[in-house]
Amino acid sequence: MAVVEREKLLEVKNLKKHFNVGKNAVLKAVDDVSFDIYKGETLGLVGESGCGKSTTGRTIIRLYEATAGNVSYEGVDVHGKKSKKELKSFNRKMQMIFQDPYASLNPRMTIKDIIAEGIDIHGLAKNDKERMERVYELLETVGLNRAHASRYPHEFSGGQRQRIGIARALAVDPDFIIADEPISALDVSIQAQVVNLMMKLQKERGLTYLFIAHDLSMVKHISDRVGVMYLGNIVELAESDELYEEPLHPYTQALLSAIPVPDPEVERSRERIILEGDIPSPISPPSGCRFRTRCPHAMDVCASAVPKWQEAREGHWVACHLYDNDLNNENKQ
Ligand SMILES: Nc1ncnc2c1ncn2[C@@H]1O[C@H](COP(=O)(O)OP(=O)(O)OP(=O)(O)O)[C@@H](O)[C@H]1O
Ligand SMILES: [Mg+2]
Repeated sequence: MAVVEREKLLEVKNLKKHFNVGKNAVLKAVDDVSFDIYKGETLGLVGESGCGKSTTGRTIIRLYEATAGNVSYEGVDVHGKKSKKELKSFNRKMQMIFQDPYASLNPRMTIKDIIAEGIDIHGLAKNDKERMERVYELLETVGLNRAHASRYPHEFSGGQRQRIGIARALAVDPDFIIADEPISALDVSIQAQVVNLMMKLQKERGLTYLFIAHDLSMVKHISDRVGVMYLGNIVELAESDELYEEPLHPYTQALLSAIPVPDPEVERSRERIILEGDIPSPISPPSGCRFRTRCPHAMDVCASAVPKWQEAREGHWVACHLYDNDLNNENKQ
């Protein structure tokens, strides 16, 4: 797909989400991230635990109020003042699938009521018969069957529960789904099934996904483009293939070097980049580039200046002083 043909569905600009965590301490969970999501694509978002992936997703979908920045959906500001009707319409277009299929389904509700919740809120069924038909259809769509409708969540396996979570999201016929680590809690053997189901549904329904995951190997298969987060920032974003083959940011390079390669010959000769130290606290992040305390290429400038978020190559964005043209030109002079 050429970049010019793509239509933006979502535009995230300078988004921040800070949490007050007592005694004047502010935790900068998401601190100035900008990216677009195109219609019909899957954007993968990866990074270590605590880097702000879920907070990014939750703020986009308005589960959290943004501290600063904007999110626009089809050109309309998501976080601006809205009428009840507009809010309802956003809630219908954007859905979320959660990481933990055990915790995200109400144990006291039957599967049919869980799935039909959105149908009821948005008045999408004229009567009970139509409501049940929709529920049955959704169960079949996700690979379950109508006999499951009157059961409770505890009667299902992890993979089945995640299918129920997917059916619940699909019930209101959304355009955009944020999947927050939808497969991390599942057995490896089940993960591929759920990913394949999500890809099939995307094709059939023209869905757009923001797919959040811990590690790069998990999103490679499903994502058209991938963004890498570190301590509240997105440090690199590119087409999946390009990101995997030519990562620019030292953090991405380190993450990729940690993924084992199936070929033992190649695996033996590969150089693993070991990052020193722990992830700093998002309450008092390092000055300048937040990655500098662990970066094998850190320079003086990295402590004093925040690297610009720039398009180093067409469609390949990075925030790192190594790719700072102004700086490199200055150094050459
Ligand atoms: N409601 C909250 N109040 C205070 N701090 C929060 C809240 N939610 C998240 N945080 C903090 O914000 C930071 C980012 O958390 P977030 O859950 O977005 O990370 P994540 O990348 O999704 O991590 P994981 O991979 O473990 O799910 C963390 O330091 C977390 O402790
Ligand atoms: Mg998370």
